[in-house]
Amino acid sequence: MLTDSHNRIHNYLRISLTDKCNLRCSYCNPVDLPKGYCSGKTKMSAEEINSIIRVFVGEGVNKIRLTGGEPLLRKDAKEIIRLISKYPVEISLTTNGVFVHEYIDVFKEAGIKSVNVSLDSLDEKTNLFISGRNEFHRVKNNIELLLKNEIRVKVNMVVIKNVNHHEIPDFVEWTKNEPIQVRFIEFMPFSGNLWSKEKVFSRHEMLELISSSYNFLKLSDEKHQTSAKYFIPEFRGSFAIISTMSEPFCSECNRMRLTTDGKMKNCLFSKNEADILGAFRRGEDIVPIIRLCLASKEEFLGGQFTHIYESTDASQINNRSMINIGG
Ligand code: 5AD
Ligand code: SF4
Repeated sequence: MLTDSHNRIHNYLRISLTDKCNLRCSYCNPVDLPKGYCSGKTKMSAEEINSIIRVFVGEGVNKIRLTGGEPLLRKDAKEIIRLISKYPVEISLTTNGVFVHEYIDVFKEAGIKSVNVSLDSLDEKTNLFISGRNEFHRVKNNIELLLKNEIRVKVNMVVIKNVNHHEIPDFVEWTKNEPIQVRFIEFMPFSGNLWSKEKVFSRHEMLELISSSYNFLKLSDEKHQTSAKYFIPEFRGSFAIISTMSEPFCSECNRMRLTTDGKMKNCLFSKNEADILGAFRRGEDIVPIIRLCLASKEEFLGGQFTHIYESTDASQINNRSMINIGG
């Protein structure tokens, strides 16, 4: 069992398979940010990922999420999914949805039951503006394809004030006939993403906007939840709000992250990283390194800011950009 110094049990590992992406969402992969991709040998190989996961599973991890960049860009993604499916873990992934149609069979074979797909606008032009690429229809079709194959879909929408916040009701309307869960995510600050408090559309503002058109009810909270969930009677789907900025969910956090170059981050906002891959390649036991990394986990938002997001100075936050961390 992996426990941090705030008595939080950590059983959930998120692994970034690549820091490359075919899209250019400004909040994650800004066009003018030096890319500095991990190349060749600095990246964990499929076999290394497999061996490192075996250690985490031995320490009680039973939930694994593959992230990116875009995880399905990686040439050996199918092999990695198959290797992970041998462990007694729940596997899921977060993808931009563009290549999903090539992976349905392997998802089913690996027992993947739920996939998170990023989609920030239901308007083709706004979508192009935010993601820098015209893939809207492919993503929409692939969401339908997942549903047809009985794989649950959560749609991640990063809400940026005056860019797409007005589309929140359209996303809610989408859940009327589709059994999807739409997750509205407050805009978070990462290196190079031009975050400012004025661009945050808070949970409170979201609920106010939704309540002007819909009567919704709150679903009961789950353990380790990272979102507050709501439903509208008679709608097939539901919606949720991830309020990392205005009301973070740190107290129940059970997550750890592994970057594509094999560094462990104990929090999305952690400054420090532990070089798991380096130690593994030197033949060292990585368990003490994992434990030490977790022991230094801050109680709240990597110790870098508070829930009073209005007073956050994004330039003082020491972190990677989102694409280099892995969602
Ligand atoms: N703020 C909020 N959410 C973000 N994501 C990426 N960058 C940010 C950000 N700056 C979300 C994307 C993706 C998930 C992995 O993280 O929506 O779906
Ligand atoms: Fe790519 Fe996802 Fe980042 Fe957009 S949010 S650039 S789709 S990794």
